[in-house]
This record gives sequence, C-alpha cells and structure tokens, in this order.
Amino acid sequence: MKLLITAGPTREPIDPVRFLSNRSSGKMGYAIARAAVEAGHEVILISGPVALTAAEGVRLVRVVTSAEMYRAAHEWVDWADVCVLAAAVADFRPARVETRKIKKGGRAALHLELVPTEDILRSLRDSGKVVVGFAAETDDVMENARRKLREKGCALLIVNDVSRDDIGFESDENALTLLFASGETRVLERASKGVLATTLIKIFEKFIK
Ligand code: CTP
Repeated sequence: MKLLITAGPTREPIDPVRFLSNRSSGKMGYAIARAAVEAGHEVILISGPVALTAAEGVRLVRVVTSAEMYRAAHEWVDWADVCVLAAAVADFRPARVETRKIKKGGRAALHLELVPTEDILRSLRDSGKVVVGFAAETDDVMENARRKLREKGCALLIVNDVSRDDIGFESDENALTLLFASGETRVLERASKGVLATTLIKIFEKFIK
C-alpha cells in the first residue's frame, strides 16, 4: 500500500518575523507514518514544521504554509493508494504578507485581514483514492463530524475531541472515534498514538483489498 500522509501544523506568514499557526505537534501523523513503514508499506509524509524525526524508510517532504502543503499533496496524490490528512492546516491566512516587520507605532489596535486557505482534504474528494480525514472538534462533536464526513467526501473520518486536555494535541495519547462513509462507527479507546496508529493501518489495509 502507498500512503500519502499530511502531518503537523502549517504556518501562515504575517510579516518577516511573525506567523499564524496552531497547537498541532504532528505526533499522530508521524505515528501513522511509522506504523505504515513497520507494516511494510510505502509512505510520503508531507509535514509542516514540527520537532519530530520521521521513522526510517519514510520519505519526508517538508513544507511550511498551507499553500505549499496543498501543492505537495497534489504532486503525490496520483502515486498514492490512500491519503491520510492528519495535518492541522490553517483555515485562514493573512490576505497580505508584509515585506517589512509591522511596527507597533502608536496603534490602539491592529486589524489583520484573513482569507480562506485551500481545503486540501476536500480538494482530493474526486481523486479516486481512499481519502481519510481527521476532525478536531470541541463541541457538538459527532454532529459536526458527520457533516464533515459528507462534505469532504471521505471514506473515513477520524474524530478527536480536542476539548479534553488529557489527550489529543501535544499529548502522546489519544482516543478516537471512526466514522465510515458506510455509516459504521467504531471507537478506539484511549491508547498511545503508536498503538492507535497500528490499528489504523490495519483498517486502511482493508480499504484496498
Ligand atoms: N484540512 C485540509 N485543508 C484545510 C483544512 C483542513 O486538508 N485547509 C483537513 C485536515 O487535515 C483534517 C480535516 O480537513 O483532515 C478537518 O479539519 P478541521 O480543521 O477539523 O475541519 P475544518 O474543515 O477546518 O472545519 P471547521 O474549522 O469548521 O471545524
């Protein structure tokens, strides 16, 4: 099986010294990449800036912005059987990147205009590949997730409840709810991201059999 995996946050520049980003550590995506190579699969890992080392055998493509991640995903999608979009991609980026550092001057407020980024997951919905998305939700978790599964055209949506501070972002553990396009639901109880990743790989394998 050939897997394209996105992982980590993206950074959207504001000026030469500042950016917008988020709390994603990349641990879940990197754990899936490791579990995949350990099971004998091929992996392209498209990663935003993280403090992690990819497992041996993983082909790493480093990116910074959501636009770079989008381009890299589209360069590799034809190669892949399964696309796993675990990255926490910025939904908005500054409309303009200032070429000089923004000075505080005497301003009482600073207004940044933000424009939407490309939705990488959604852009793969007609790719003909098995597309797996992640959803980070804080409220109305299952309702939002079901809508996301439909709108983004995924075969599987993996849901994290990010309102819990004991698991998820930055943590070595997670608990996941899997929503399949078939309507089936499966809960993976709290475990290390490595253990969860191994289970996920077995599930992905079934899609392409
Ligand atoms: N995603 C993506 N490109 C984006 C935004 C999100 O590929 N520009 C992918 C993520 O990698 C993840 C999924 O979409 O697999 C869900 O991301 P999430 O932030 O939970 O959902 P959003 O679509 O951004 O919706 P909302 O912010 O309304 O929850």
